[in-house]
Amino acid sequence: MSEAALNQINSLDVADQNSVADRFNENTTNKLGTENHISPNDHLSKNILGWYAICSAQTLKPGELYHFSMFNEPLVLYKDKNSTARCIKDLCPHRGASFINGVLRNGELTCPYHGGRFSSEGECLNLDRITCQHIVDSKYNNYAKKIHLFQYPCIEKDDYIFIYYTGNAKTNLNDFEINDSLEDSRTDSYGFNSKSCAYEEVYVDFKCDWTRIIENHLDILHIFWIHGDTIPDKDVNKSAITSFNQKITKDHRHIVSKYHHKSKEKGEFITISFIPPGRIVIYKGTPEEARYLQVLDHIPLAKNRARVIVRHYRKFLKNKLFTKLVLFKQLQHRIFYRIFSEDYMVLKTQTFNQQMGYIKKDNVKLLGEDKMIQYYWDWLKDSLKNEKPWEIHQTGLHTNTVHQDMPMKYPPENLDLANKNNLNLLTNLIIRALIPIGIIIILI
Ligand code: FES
Ligand SMILES: [Fe+2]
Repeated sequence: MSEAALNQINSLDVADQNSVADRFNENTTNKLGTENHISPNDHLSKNILGWYAICSAQTLKPGELYHFSMFNEPLVLYKDKNSTARCIKDLCPHRGASFINGVLRNGELTCPYHGGRFSSEGECLNLDRITCQHIVDSKYNNYAKKIHLFQYPCIEKDDYIFIYYTGNAKTNLNDFEINDSLEDSRTDSYGFNSKSCAYEEVYVDFKCDWTRIIENHLDILHIFWIHGDTIPDKDVNKSAITSFNQKITKDHRHIVSKYHHKSKEKGEFITISFIPPGRIVIYKGTPEEARYLQVLDHIPLAKNRARVIVRHYRKFLKNKLFTKLVLFKQLQHRIFYRIFSEDYMVLKTQTFNQQMGYIKKDNVKLLGEDKMIQYYWDWLKDSLKNEKPWEIHQTGLHTNTVHQDMPMKYPPENLDLANKNNLNLLTNLIIRALIPIGIIIILI
């Protein structure tokens, strides 16, 4: 297929919501007469391995290690002596200890087991001087030079730390061949200007399959039902549940679904864009005009463990003092945490049903509005033909889950952060209520 053809955007109107499964049979024609045979996989150029946003830049504090994992492989992020983000395999090349409780000083990482110290670039600096030289052979002095941390390419952009994940960490970063463009994942390359916005964000971890959360965020209908009481929008509630006119467009970088209310006066409801491998962007209008843009990054921590970074950019309420006064951040966080808790049981049980083989093609009946989910599955299926990330670092039944459990530190698995946020909100509300009362008492 030619480059021009690859870049050509195809579109499909899914104008009614009556029919279901037949829409997903190939080579059918919908009511508008448009050929309903779109295989986005002909166009999406990215597979499942590649650039992933892992955390925000502020999360990576100087002198601190950020432990996480990708497709079961334990990894660590930190800032080196030049404040450049580094991503390494969580494995000391001396005797295989983890760097959990290791020390990071001036960008040099010290292993907690025998004190092996590694430079910012990953070379071992001191192992030849910390043990009994005489018990090792004459080549011992070269020993430290030969051991080196295993790394992945890592870059800071738009206040995110991105890593280029291949499943095969290397001692020399120059040995990576990077074919994917990080630009394709950046919201700014679609016309959005993130620098002109303020944002709030939370991290949420789920004991469920990574793909189920992505599907959940491509699922337009569930927000009316399960989140109807939480989302502060009068048009989003159980009684307003509705069907949409849907227009799907795609190019080699992403698939975009625009949902319009059936009634013309109401106009567009929302646009959802899937940018492989793990990013979903939600907004209204065009990215240039959108007053509000939601970016969801889905991180496949391990089998049955996934993390989502939810970031809401906004062009309004940008005055820091004012947003602090009205407790905007805490109120937003409260909504985020509630929404994800609402999804959690569904996602966990759906994961079980999938693992048990209950969710097969014949057992699910998709609606017109589920078309994005179908496209996502098409992309996933094709990607998994080329790449098998879950097989690179396979875990067995008896594998110790220490690395898998450790990063599960955010709601809804652990409600500490949500509770802390609620407490903070309450305290601030009380303080704000007491100040005027205090002033009145003084004046009296
Ligand atoms: S295992 Fe790290 S220094 Fe020995
Ligand atoms: Fe949801």
